Amino acid sequence: MKKMLVTGGAGFIGSNFVHYTLKNRPEYEITVVDKLTYAGNSANLETVLDKIEFVTGDICDRGLVDKLVGETDIVVHFAAESHNDNSLRDPWPFINTNIIGTYNILEAVRAYGTRLHHISTDEVFGDLELDDPNRFTEETAYNPSSPYSSSKAASDHLVRAWIRSFGIQATISNCSNNYGPYQHIEKFIPRQITNILSGIKPKLYGTGEQVRDWIHVDDHNSAVHLILDKGRLGDTYIIGADNDHVNNKMVIELICELMGKGKDWYEHVNDRPGHDMRYAMDSRKLKHELGWQPEFTDTESGMKNGLQQTIDWYTNNRDWWQADKDTVESAYAKQGQ
Ligand code: NAD
Ligand code: TYD
Repeated sequence: MKKMLVTGGAGFIGSNFVHYTLKNRPEYEITVVDKLTYAGNSANLETVLDKIEFVTGDICDRGLVDKLVGETDIVVHFAAESHNDNSLRDPWPFINTNIIGTYNILEAVRAYGTRLHHISTDEVFGDLELDDPNRFTEETAYNPSSPYSSSKAASDHLVRAWIRSFGIQATISNCSNNYGPYQHIEKFIPRQITNILSGIKPKLYGTGEQVRDWIHVDDHNSAVHLILDKGRLGDTYIIGADNDHVNNKMVIELICELMGKGKDWYEHVNDRPGHDMRYAMDSRKLKHELGWQPEFTDTESGMKNGLQQTIDWYTNNRDWWQADKDTVESAYAKQGQ
């Protein structure tokens, strides 16, 4: 058995990672550390609590991080403040968790020689123009736009500096926008699905021409496992599922159609200040060197299968999201969104 510490394992991607690992990789003994912020939800792990160790704690607590890292073989670091719109309202938690928290993890893995995989985002690269056919690669220069993306960029730089200066055994991945079960309903796709389930029209920011290179969360997590198994230490891997031809308007229309509404059953709301236009990921390194392929996106049906599975999950798990719906919608309503 290998001991694995998953930070942020009660969040969206982290909890899916825990489920994925328990199902596919039984050789790992998992400890989750999570502060259970508004985004963390222990209900995400309810069905597996007897199979893992769950520690409620803050990665900004250096002593706790040191203790937990000292007891593990591998750290997979998901914990972060993750929502752009919130970082515009109040940047401090992003600076604290994403930068100081990552620093604490780096110091601990340095002290114990522990293997680290750091989870990051495509947003560190800034955005592309809508008509720019290029995609982000492992060599693209960092150019973040928001407090969220700049704090993630800072954390990536720290990881690289600790690799180069102290020789820690770490890898980094930068992934595009994820969707799937257990995603907080403040985010684009679950917000629209739960809007329709609540009889509210989906809300499209501005013109909806913006492009996010959507990937199903299980495809992200299969890539993370491949990197843990076969990734080159010190390297960065881009993860994306080639959905950079799909803009927000097309996603909303597809959700409306899949949920039995007319494809135009949505409304335009205020745009996000500094809204990034286009993200597009070039994951050829991951595909060619490690042999990764996404399962939830194919050229024939595009995102349809993944979206249908996600719609089914929110439809069947109303108890999981219902209590938060009014709070999320009134926060958006204050911004005309
Ligand atoms: P999330 O907000 O759903 O989950 C974050 C988790 O971290 C929550 O459970 C929260 O309680 C926990 N957390 C926050 N601050 C903490 C702290 N100080 N100490 C311990 N735990 C803390 O986010 P997510 O969407 O699951 O994202 C996970 C990671 O993946 C983040 O690093 C994010 O930058 C990255 N990422 C996300 C996406 C995406 O589309 N969601 C895409 C690429 C990369
Ligand atoms: P989001 O899920 O917040 O992810 P990110 O900001 O990390 O890309 O938003 C995805 C895209 O959807 C982004 O272009 C903003 C847009 N959006 C809407 O059009 N309507 C919404 O209600 C939300 C929450 C986002």
